[in-house]
Amino acid sequence: MPYLQMKEFLNDKIFKIISQVADEDNVDVFVIGGYVRDIILKRPSKDIDIVVIGSGIDIATNVAKRLGSNVNVTVFKNFGTAMLRCGNYEIEFVGARKESYRKNSRKPIVEGGTVQDDQNRRDFTINALAISLNDKNFGELIDPFDGVADLERKILRTPLNPDTTFSDDPLRMFRAVRFAAQLNFRIDDVAYESIQKNKERIHIVSYERIIEELNKILLSPKPSIGFKIMENTGLLSEFFPELAMLKGVELVEGRAHKDNFYHTIEVVDNLRKKTDNLWLLWAGLLHDIAKPKTKKFVKDIGWTFHGHEFLGAKMIPRIFTRLKMPLNDKMKYIQKLIQLHLRPIVLSQDIVTDSAVRRLLFDAGDDIDDLMLLCEADITSKNEKTVRKHLSNFRIVREKLVELEEKDRLRNFQPPISGELIIKTFDLKPGPIIGEIKNAIKDAILDGEIQNEYNEAYAFMLKKGEELSLKRK
Ligand code: CTP
Repeated sequence: MPYLQMKEFLNDKIFKIISQVADEDNVDVFVIGGYVRDIILKRPSKDIDIVVIGSGIDIATNVAKRLGSNVNVTVFKNFGTAMLRCGNYEIEFVGARKESYRKNSRKPIVEGGTVQDDQNRRDFTINALAISLNDKNFGELIDPFDGVADLERKILRTPLNPDTTFSDDPLRMFRAVRFAAQLNFRIDDVAYESIQKNKERIHIVSYERIIEELNKILLSPKPSIGFKIMENTGLLSEFFPELAMLKGVELVEGRAHKDNFYHTIEVVDNLRKKTDNLWLLWAGLLHDIAKPKTKKFVKDIGWTFHGHEFLGAKMIPRIFTRLKMPLNDKMKYIQKLIQLHLRPIVLSQDIVTDSAVRRLLFDAGDDIDDLMLLCEADITSKNEKTVRKHLSNFRIVREKLVELEEKDRLRNFQPPISGELIIKTFDLKPGPIIGEIKNAIKDAILDGEIQNEYNEAYAFMLKKGEELSLKRK
């Protein structure tokens, strides 16, 4: 009996209070949406949505009064909603709607619906579950579309014809993908076909909302599930053509290159197992973004993607601008990881010299650990021997990194000799020669000729000055 099952999940005092206030005001209220879904899925959830058969704002105000003077209600008049915090919970109140559920629409919302009207207009059957809170039927589950069965069957289905549900808010196509990835659910065939058919409608949705979903896909346990669906339905090429273009294999003179789309999403999956750093996952997603643009078939050598790490890093600001992503230090971090992503691999294919590892440490700075994670995730060869060989070489690189870091303190390199001192020592005017000497000192440190410390660097500076026929003051 669903009745009993649900009551036991509403032990928090807030549900009792809402129930009492609603009964006093003589209106029906329900917990609805994600909170109910997550009770059944046993996922913790802090956002509670309350639908009121009447005014959501009035009930929210009265609940806040009951909770005490320190509780504030935030009212969004345009949307007809009100929000308040209670303990860890964020609770949103909304009047039941006949019209579609629109979070960001400018159009007026038509309230005055029944709970069934409101459920009809929600995105998926698993998100349309409601539990009654009034005393007469406290805890009763209202599940008109068999949402509970869909939760058990792990299926995403729309309550109405998916063309209607998706046209009410095209973002729901991305939400379908996101829930599929987060919960490992299947999108049912009719809804899937509807996404294929309606994919262009995504252009009326703001990039900010899409990116919010994309970030959730990246942070889901296996992001590739979402990316495969986006690719397959055509959503991906609508909003992220650069990523969609990675797909495909070309064969020339019997040689094929790997499919860079499947490679990329495998890299993201590998990374996700090691990190919950969203920006590192973005770096994984974009690390090969310039491969299609740099691809060449060279006779007797095969497929090459020369310079894709540099061009890739360069492409990021334009992509981020279009996607309304932040153009800040996070973007720079992603660019840096893309630009450096081949360095540890090149290193590990060769004899790992101290000098090369020092240079890597110098260039990567504090992001060295993330870079190593990206590079390890980047090994997706089907050949187990190749994978083992790379990983064991990476281990050597990592050991050398630790060893050299302790010895040489290069992670955030500060030149031991300043430009000022060079100017003073040789009585120079500011000019390119100062940079030349500073670089020579840096190279000598990175090549291990001298230690990263003042005295040795000073002596080296004097020697370099002599070579350049500079006179000491
Ligand atoms: N909803 C909808 N269409 C949307 C967004 C939301 O129908 N485009 C409805 C769904 O019933 C959903 C509820 O509003 O369950 C709450 O939405 P939201 O808080 O965005 O998502 P949740 O489903 O709660 O999931 P999560 O907290 O994981 O984002």
